[in-house]
Amino acid sequence: MCGIIGYLGPQNPVEVIFEGLKKLEYRGYDSAGIALIQNQNFEVRRSQGKLSELGRLLSKNPLYGGIGIGHTRWATHGRPSETNAHPHVAGRIALVHNGIIENYLDLKKQLLNDGCQFSSETDSEIVAHLINKYIKGRDLVKAVQMAQEKIRGSYALVILDSQDPDRIVAVRKECPLIVGIGDEEFFIASDLMAFLHHTNRVIYLDDGEMAVLEHPFPQVISLKKTKIKKEVQKITWSPVMAEKAGYKHFMQKEIFEQPQAIIDTFRGRVSPEKGEVLLPEIGLTSEELKDIDQIHIIACGTSWHAALVGKFLLEEYCRIPTTVDYASEYRYRNPIVNSRTLLLLISQSGETADTLAAFREGKKKKARILAICNVVGSSIAREADGVIYTHAGPEIGVASTKAFTTQLTALFLMTLYIGQTLKKISRKDRLAMIQELLRIPHDIEKVLEAEDRIQAIAQKYFQAQDFLFLGRGIHYPIALEGALKLKEISYIHAEGYPAGEMKHGPIALIDEKMPTVFLAPQNNIQEKVFSNMEEVRARGGIIIALTDEKKGGKAGLKANDLIQLPKAGWGLSPILYTVPLQLLAYHVAVLRGTDVDQPRNLAKSVVVE
Ligand code: M6R
Repeated sequence: MCGIIGYLGPQNPVEVIFEGLKKLEYRGYDSAGIALIQNQNFEVRRSQGKLSELGRLLSKNPLYGGIGIGHTRWATHGRPSETNAHPHVAGRIALVHNGIIENYLDLKKQLLNDGCQFSSETDSEIVAHLINKYIKGRDLVKAVQMAQEKIRGSYALVILDSQDPDRIVAVRKECPLIVGIGDEEFFIASDLMAFLHHTNRVIYLDDGEMAVLEHPFPQVISLKKTKIKKEVQKITWSPVMAEKAGYKHFMQKEIFEQPQAIIDTFRGRVSPEKGEVLLPEIGLTSEELKDIDQIHIIACGTSWHAALVGKFLLEEYCRIPTTVDYASEYRYRNPIVNSRTLLLLISQSGETADTLAAFREGKKKKARILAICNVVGSSIAREADGVIYTHAGPEIGVASTKAFTTQLTALFLMTLYIGQTLKKISRKDRLAMIQELLRIPHDIEKVLEAEDRIQAIAQKYFQAQDFLFLGRGIHYPIALEGALKLKEISYIHAEGYPAGEMKHGPIALIDEKMPTVFLAPQNNIQEKVFSNMEEVRARGGIIIALTDEKKGGKAGLKANDLIQLPKAGWGLSPILYTVPLQLLAYHVAVLRGTDVDQPRNLAKSVVVE
């Protein structure tokens, strides 16, 4: 959730680092700082608040020096403040840290006994002191290795030694770090977005590895302290792909990118002529798939909503018992897992700490591990037995949009693939389902054309204090997602419920001020949804209905406001119903003047438990 960048090269380091931090600000944004080595000393500027505050400070009080490091923070230990902002300096050492040092209190006690004085409330500063303690008479690499042996927890650390001004050392454990290789210049960052506009040649560090950035070429050292040769990979995402491209917010842009993101996700994976799905990356032979007797899907937040849709798909089409867990709960409930269990992790970032912890729980119990992930080279993607990548491209808005609908696409593909392998879905049905999938991007375009209509609905209700979102069956997770989207970015209290549950409690909330959003697709339970609408109407509640019935059908008659959608097949219709809810949340938030792309208290990637 914090953003890290380090730079060693001929360009102005402040410019490179500050620009890099701008690209990382979505990962955390309550304080920021930069440190450079200047005449065997550190020059540091830090400030509380958004990066623009640091920008103001730098123009008032410019920073000069050689190599440097920068950080944008999302507080875990210690409140957001200038003193808690990184980089932290202790004697010869300056460092930036992402993650949590679990045994920091014990280490702090020992360091206090040694006479160290601390200037922040952070766990990170302890590491700076520890390395500074070990560096006497040693070089930075050795000192960092010694500190690594003492610290417990998760970390990405990028470290400078003021007496060694031509070297940056970085280590990682459970938090991402990527080395960028430019022309006579090197970068290290928690996300390649930070330097992609300079170079697309990268080295991914694995857990426990250390990178030593120095000329002529960075070295990578393993946990066993031996030098290793790592592959330099070429990234195909262009930096332009990550810019706003004329939209007011990244979130709006990302909503509109969904048709393409979905095409990119199924492209090359389906054969419409043969009715076949190709997913070799699933990493399971047909024999192994036949052996699976249960699927556990694990995720957090929006990805958890995708997981709920996945359960409907897998149970309906493949008839494999499937459970869905919040990652943060999974390992504490002693799940029944064995080698016949398929653990499916869904994570946009591939770095979510709770999901990683659940992953390790499953691994310990010998489950087969498959991931659905958007970020190539992320921790989850690298550690799983198989990965189905969603090709959504970089998602900058903190509220997940295209990552979610591409997760639904990947789950649909995975279901088709398993159904095909286990002979649970006939070729005829597969042919029809693939045709439905190919139509989805076009149908989303149609929904996007209704943006003005949705904006007008947002205008009517943006001052409401509460919203209720109701759906049934496979659309119930979409009601949850609609509520989450609205509360994340507009700060309006919103709840998602299975429509049939409303009468067991939430009905007490209904009054003439509260809008209830109903998902009412034509299907075998539509009549039941109509009954729930009547229950709201009878209590004077406001109804916003989404339906694919021609001219709104019965839903249109009952609703105060109607959003008309194209009709899609059962398994894909959740994708279509998601889009208007994203647009509704977006326009309500814009009207309320919130920070849509960086809503308060949230971070794009939650790498602490
Ligand atoms: O990167 P992940 O998919 O693992 O992230 C999981 C959640 O933190 C994420 O979906 C979160 O709920 C978003 N803010 C949703 O918009």
